[in-house]
Amino acid sequence: MDAFLAIASKREVREYAATAIPDEVERRILDAGRLSGSSRNTQRWEFAVVSGGAQERLAETVYAPANVRDAALVVAIVGEAGSFDVGRCAQNMMLAAWNEGVGSCPNGIRDAEAAAAVCGGEVKVILSFGYPARPRDPDSRPAREWSERANRKPLDALVRRVT
Ligand SMILES: Cc1cc2nc3c(=O)[nH]c(=O)nc-3n(C[C@H](O)[C@H](O)[C@H](O)COP(=O)(O)O)c2cc1C
Repeated sequence: MDAFLAIASKREVREYAATAIPDEVERRILDAGRLSGSSRNTQRWEFAVVSGGAQERLAETVYAPANVRDAALVVAIVGEAGSFDVGRCAQNMMLAAWNEGVGSCPNGIRDAEAAAAVCGGEVKVILSFGYPARPRDPDSRPAREWSERANRKPLDALVRRVT
């Protein structure tokens, strides 16, 4: 998929089909995180792939437990990385997933201590992934149209030319 089409057509997906994510797709999502740039290339992160009973317990630590409980893949970014680095890493993983037709959602953490106990370190963000329960085809519209339809502030309200 064209990179801008992936960016423009991506929306958070919170309801997932009961379809497993193939190992090679999971690996590509994680590799997209690994490849992310970070401050001075410090890479102060680990990716905890959370499943089974740990997934149930982690779901109880976020604001919207169903996002995590029902996901086909849950990845917690764990470690000392700063928020800018974590954001880049998370977005890389989510865009790589979307390129494979896999939806995703970041999850805010309600109980940081409990999340750290489950994942074995400070959890910066919890990402839930899965094939969307209601699939959306990025190719059904040009990127420009996805951009126009997005629930975002208009570009004119965001851009200032400083001379
Ligand atoms: C740091 C962060 C935390 C978020 N936490 C949650 C959350 O706890 N639950 C949730 O459903 N969505 C969460 N979101 C997703 C936002 O609600 C979403 O990015 C925003 O509404 C835009 O959604 P859209 O791309 O579908 O338009 C979070 C996003 C970020 C960046």
